[in-house]
Amino acid sequence: MKNFEFYNPVKILFGEGQIDKIPQEILPYHTILIAYGRGSIKRNGVYEKVVNALNGKKVIEFGGIEPNPRYETLMKAIKLARENNVDFVLAVGGGSVIDGTKFIVASVPFEGEPWDIVSKDVKVENAIPFGTVLTLPATGSEMNAGAVISRDATKEKYAFSSPAVFPKFSVLDPTVTYSLPKHQVANGVVDAFAHVLEQYLTYPSNSTIQDRFAEGILQTLIEVGPKTLENPTDNNLRATFMWSCTMALNGLISTGVPTDWATHMIGHELTAFLGLDHGVTLAIIYPALLTEMAEFKKEKLLQYASRVWYLSGNNLTPERAIEETEKFFRSLGVKTRLPEHGISHTDIKPIVDRFVARGWKLGENQNITPDVVEKILRRALEPYR
Ligand code: NZQ
Ligand code: ZN
Repeated sequence: MKNFEFYNPVKILFGEGQIDKIPQEILPYHTILIAYGRGSIKRNGVYEKVVNALNGKKVIEFGGIEPNPRYETLMKAIKLARENNVDFVLAVGGGSVIDGTKFIVASVPFEGEPWDIVSKDVKVENAIPFGTVLTLPATGSEMNAGAVISRDATKEKYAFSSPAVFPKFSVLDPTVTYSLPKHQVANGVVDAFAHVLEQYLTYPSNSTIQDRFAEGILQTLIEVGPKTLENPTDNNLRATFMWSCTMALNGLISTGVPTDWATHMIGHELTAFLGLDHGVTLAIIYPALLTEMAEFKKEKLLQYASRVWYLSGNNLTPERAIEETEKFFRSLGVKTRLPEHGISHTDIKPIVDRFVARGWKLGENQNITPDVVEKILRRALEPYR
């Protein structure tokens, strides 16, 4: 196990009715900006509950944050927050609204060009405090200090992180997720599953406790993912799904272990260039990447095969574990091959060119070079059999 520091100050308010506790959490603040997406919170009643909880405060609203939140949109929110001297932001939505809010709160006190925060890794020292009401379990953004921001004009999508953008609190009420469309729930299961794999499926590192945590989350997602898809209003299933997603990316399972993240980096480009949902990109890239990197990941793949999929005897192979993984994604209704989205060889060329231009070396061994990225994308172009 490597040396590590672990810090996570996010207060979680979990369960039905917890939105009512928000007033106690925002006592010191005066002017609150509610940030939200494109209207789901108005249709499912969450908006009303949140507005009630802010009674007595000066409230300003910014709606319209889109999936894969855009710099262009967020700049408008930053202007609004500055003009009104907002001292607290409440993000109400999924990963996109929460990530967008992280960019807003970091940018308001920032003196330079906010895009530098994501494109040049400029350090964020200060941010306006913020809280979240999570409506889509998937990203873990509600309990981590990372965000991913897109820029429409240049088709770029970059991540940034800073301890300054940990939420002060996050409300996790499973009942607010009942209104999610099925495909968003499926995307969420895939995203959380992929987050665990990125931090687990690398090479052995004497990380017994982290491995068991990771395997526990994976098995829980395999168990409840399909069930919560079919029974959207079963609160126990939703609660388990919701907490699994949060635990998958709040820093706990990455303590002291090597991490991969290449699937996410390639996936972000598929979203930036071709507009695929984040979870969808992961379902496509993960099986292809594991197949390409099977030799390097052999030991952990065999552990995963045995402990997560209970494969044994002749079936205890990396190939079978990868097959089970892809089958699982497909069982949720998520397509796993590029041609199923009408994407062909010519569409991936700009993506490969971008990796060549950046010269990135990805993965836990930094051996996913641009030529390997191309091989992975070619595998994803093969039809599913
Ligand atoms: O815009 P609204 O109306 O809110 O609708 C959203 C959106 O259309 C809808 N939705 C959310 N909650 C709902 C609901 N519809 C009905 N009922 C509800 N309760 O769902 C759609 C998708 O929402 P979005 O927030 O985009 O999805 P998700 O949570 O999957 O977030 C994806 C973004 O997070 C980034 C991704 O790259 C992507 O930009 N990620 C952030 C991470 C982080 N901060 O740690 C890590 C992840 O790996 C990921 O990269
Ligand atoms: Zn993700």
